[in-house]
Amino acid sequence: MKTTDLIFDRSYVDGKWTTEGEASFEVFNPATGEKIKTVADGGIAITEKAIDAADSAFKPWRKTTAKYRAELLEKWHNLMLENTAQLAEIMTLECGKPFTESKGEVAYGAAFVKWFAEEGKRAYGDVIPPHTEDRRLVVIKQPIGVVAAITPWNFPLAMITRKVAPALAAGCTVIIRPTYESPLTALAIARLAAIAGFPPGVINVVVGRDSAGMGKFFCESEKVKKISFTGSTRIGHILMAQSASTLKKLSLELGGNAPFIVFEDADIEKAVEGAIVSKFRNAGQTCVCVNRILVHEKVYDEFSQKLSKAVAALKVGDGMLAGVSIGPMINKSAVEKTQSFVADAINKGGEILTGGKPMGECFYEPTVIGNASREMNFTEDEIFGPVAPLYKFNTDAEAIEMANDTIYGLASYFYSESVSRCWKVAEALEYGMVGINEGLVSTEVAPFGGVKFSGQGREGSKYGIEDYLEIKYMCFGNII
Ligand code: SIN
Repeated sequence: MKTTDLIFDRSYVDGKWTTEGEASFEVFNPATGEKIKTVADGGIAITEKAIDAADSAFKPWRKTTAKYRAELLEKWHNLMLENTAQLAEIMTLECGKPFTESKGEVAYGAAFVKWFAEEGKRAYGDVIPPHTEDRRLVVIKQPIGVVAAITPWNFPLAMITRKVAPALAAGCTVIIRPTYESPLTALAIARLAAIAGFPPGVINVVVGRDSAGMGKFFCESEKVKKISFTGSTRIGHILMAQSASTLKKLSLELGGNAPFIVFEDADIEKAVEGAIVSKFRNAGQTCVCVNRILVHEKVYDEFSQKLSKAVAALKVGDGMLAGVSIGPMINKSAVEKTQSFVADAINKGGEILTGGKPMGECFYEPTVIGNASREMNFTEDEIFGPVAPLYKFNTDAEAIEMANDTIYGLASYFYSESVSRCWKVAEALEYGMVGINEGLVSTEVAPFGGVKFSGQGREGSKYGIEDYLEIKYMCFGNII
């Protein structure tokens, strides 16, 4: 297939490309500012049609066997891999990440589809030893119903498959609402799902600019039984409040403020490598990107010099160009926000060790800031950009206290060569995920998710399908 065979300009509902009215919006390439496509705006009207289609498709879909669903998911997975270059190109064009990272995301995203194809077959229940002689107690798991997946621009493919694959494997039908900045990848994989043979209405994609209106519509719809959302904590709060009237189940993967601790016994070379991958992946625009680097004072100078040198060597540019490891930020306001963190840090005594400036409208220099202090804004707020602040600490207790002193609790990382310190610190960190001598923890086989204001629910792993299943207890009486 050619890339152009996978570019669509409208919502996909009930197995058809919709024919809505005049309203449209434009999708831009953040690296060049050029328009990629004008897309029909589905809005609330198409959202409602998609919910109705998913609701009608649910009855027959839930009756299919897990084995049949797995076969379709396997086909979908294979089609994604066969079209890796095409999907990666679409992704780089609409969200800016370097082409090699986009290819990595296709593999990462497709892996959730394969994983949950298998997990669906293992959605086992239980037989419970009865409490009386004449009863038999059984627990089965059943699909929750229609699921709305609301997904962000920073992982236009993987954040969809991480939600949709377990939902489909469990027997749910889905409506995907990708963000308006990057709808094209979602539409491309909807096309591949149609080729794989998913029946009409099982997978729907609605695109539109009215994030708030469409989100509210999902929340208030009685037909939608579950929402899975990746995005900011602010929007997570709103979706939860709006879902109160329908008592909807929610999985929320929200903001983070990841600490990265370098203890005095760390392997500094490995710690620098880990910091680069966990801070600068996708130009710092992931929820699990390091936000604060805490370095023991004895190794601070060595670590800061080596990190600054490695960061200064990162090549910034259009993600389609060879050798680029830092692409553009998603838009101009993301650059401005990053600059405001840096300006605030400088005002409060921060020292620029490398970088520190915007590069044109949509790029920001990979930056390291020394002498960071708790008063600086990025101590509590998520940077979501390529800026690494370095804080000093003196004792383990101080590092743990600093690391936990945030409302967030998604990912955390630390480097130490002591087994006993590794266990103690890992247990003490108030986070859903801990990377120990490792800067990249994401994989389909492990549970991704956070605690505190970073959300609820887990994605990936054997736990990821549970969010899409209801438990039913059956009590057989009078067995005499
Ligand atoms: C995210 O930024 O929400 C996801 C990052 C990942 O899957 O590693």
